[in-house]
Amino acid sequence: MADVVLKDVTKIFERNIIAADNISFEVKDKEFVVLVGPSGCGKSTTLRLIAGLEELTEGEIYIDGRLVNDIPPKDRDIAMVFQNYALYPHMTVYHNMAFGLKLRKYPRREIERRVHEAAEILGITDLLNRKPKALSGGEQQRVAVGRAIVRKPKVFLFDEPLSNLDAKLRVQMRAEICKLHSHLEATIIYVTHDQVEAMTMGQRIVVMRDGVIQQIDTPLNLYNRPANKFVAGFIGSPTMNFIQGTLSKDWRGGLSFSDGVIKLGLPRRHNRRLQSYVGRELILGIRPEDILNPRFGKSTPETVTIWAKVEVIEPMGNETFLYLNTGSTSLVARFSTTKIPRVGEEMKLMVNMSKCHFFDKDTEIALL
Ligand SMILES: Nc1ncnc2c1ncn2[C@@H]1O[C@H](COP(=O)(O)OP(=O)(O)OP(=O)(O)O)[C@@H](O)[C@H]1O
Ligand SMILES: [Mg+2]
Repeated sequence: MADVVLKDVTKIFERNIIAADNISFEVKDKEFVVLVGPSGCGKSTTLRLIAGLEELTEGEIYIDGRLVNDIPPKDRDIAMVFQNYALYPHMTVYHNMAFGLKLRKYPRREIERRVHEAAEILGITDLLNRKPKALSGGEQQRVAVGRAIVRKPKVFLFDEPLSNLDAKLRVQMRAEICKLHSHLEATIIYVTHDQVEAMTMGQRIVVMRDGVIQQIDTPLNLYNRPANKFVAGFIGSPTMNFIQGTLSKDWRGGLSFSDGVIKLGLPRRHNRRLQSYVGRELILGIRPEDILNPRFGKSTPETVTIWAKVEVIEPMGNETFLYLNTGSTSLVARFSTTKIPRVGEEMKLMVNMSKCHFFDKDTEIALL
């Protein structure tokens, strides 16, 4: 297994489309790193650059310490699993998995051993004699992964391998790929546009937007300490609430944030960091779970009360989402399932300001 290093990698397609803009990151040996971001942000391009399927415009890529810029894909010792499994329809599962090894002229015995071992790991031994069209989506997916495993590559590259599966199977395969990672002790780079997949699978996550890396961090750090408004809004569901307003200082020196209707006092400890924003517009971010139902939540020095009208209620079973309107802004709150108000009701809410985020209005960079 091996580490992968990207240094100032840029890919510009025809018509000056910048798919990857000065990208640098490092995937350590045996690490599971996820590239995530909205459609068109350059995830597949980045993966294809690592695989050698696209040529770099600028920068350097190292696999296991070796500069691979000029090394063809077949000599990079990587295996890629694509979204459309691209299985050969006329070959059995066995031959689909064996094909790459045959091309590389592995001895028959060794091919047999590797295919059976991979089939065992993936639980598809019973399917080895079937053709792809006689398999379910999940089974086809496993064969595609099996085809990568038999190669025993230094690095696995996955490009949205689960997006063709239904929701339930996706969750199951997610767990299987994680198990596979610890079983094979493999270096994996995994691309998805699904933030839940990224959060649940990645040891570290690279968040991309328009070809530019926004943040590289562990799932919890991305959630708790997003570097900018884009990351804050991209990670988490329902998404973080954003309110635009101004910061003012009261006669006792405390800071408060107001959008003209609601006014939220800030914890004193933020004074120093936000001092220079007094009198200026900025964006407050608050996650749905930090807006509390006062029937349960205890008031603390860092909670403030606001009023809002309940517009929509979404019961999820284990929790309930409330869509609220303060008169100036819409908010989403995540409540437990009991003591839920009714639609149309004006209700008091507690906002846990110890969990609030602030972003510069122009640069959208996190201020706390
Ligand atoms: N061969 C190509 N020629 C020209 N432009 C391309 C090519 N491949 C990708 N692009 C452009 O590069 C940008 C990044 O594309 P890429 O496929 O890497 O995005 P992505 O993040 O994988 O998106 P998705 O989630 O939709 O798969 C897009 O604007 C896309 O249109
Ligand atoms: Mg893609």
